Amino acid sequence: MFKKISNRPILNSPLPNLREIAEQALALVRNGNVVGLGSGRAATAFIEALGERVRQGLQVRGVPTSQESADFSRRLGIPLVDPAEVVSIDIDVDGADEVDPQCNLIKGLGGALLREKIVAAASKQVVILVGSEKLVPVLGTRGKLPVEVVPFGVPLCTRRLAALGCIAHIREQEGRPFVTDNGNHILDCAIGLLDDAARLDADIRAIPGVVGTGLFLQIAQTVLIQHGDQIQVRKRPA
Ligand code: A5P
Repeated sequence: MFKKISNRPILNSPLPNLREIAEQALALVRNGNVVGLGSGRAATAFIEALGERVRQGLQVRGVPTSQESADFSRRLGIPLVDPAEVVSIDIDVDGADEVDPQCNLIKGLGGALLREKIVAAASKQVVILVGSEKLVPVLGTRGKLPVEVVPFGVPLCTRRLAALGCIAHIREQEGRPFVTDNGNHILDCAIGLLDDAARLDADIRAIPGVVGTGLFLQIAQTVLIQHGDQIQVRKRPA
């Protein structure tokens, strides 16, 4: 029934050239901050840098966006806090799969999109770390949009997504449907260039069974971009 889409683990080894943007993001963290801890390679580079600073005495509490980020942060000695115990998060640092010129994003190829969006929504400042290969002129350039759905809703969601022009394939891992930290599945949708990403996002979120999309629109304030040895700072237009 479903075609297999290859899945990559959330946390691979951090790419060496992400370390500099991770350090730059770290400069935005203040003593006493509550920090959203993203998922994926760029976020992992940040968590590693943060862990070093914590060992040197920086006091922060982290809110992880995935079980893997939580486990990794704990191993580094970063104190974690339950989201229920904090009203707001001072700064959230995460990666992305596509970044457009207005700092809108597609996220979720690592499968942590729902918690990433919740943590971002609770944050005063959202900082995204990417290599320049993630920059696109229009969202949809890379052709894939992850959508998280409750297992019971997979057949209906697949049909309704097709009606919206998005051919969806359930993500698999080791021959079985990938299960998110929330016990849900991911439908990876084949998409083209999005001329109205907000409309598509609203249409997808209106499907019963959908719990979140990988479209992060007007959420990030700052994107730090690694271009070889150079770091570019992109700010969301006011
Ligand atoms: C995790 O679900 C994703 O949203 C990641 O943040 C995104 O896929 C970027 O990951 P990398 O930094 O590993 O490319």
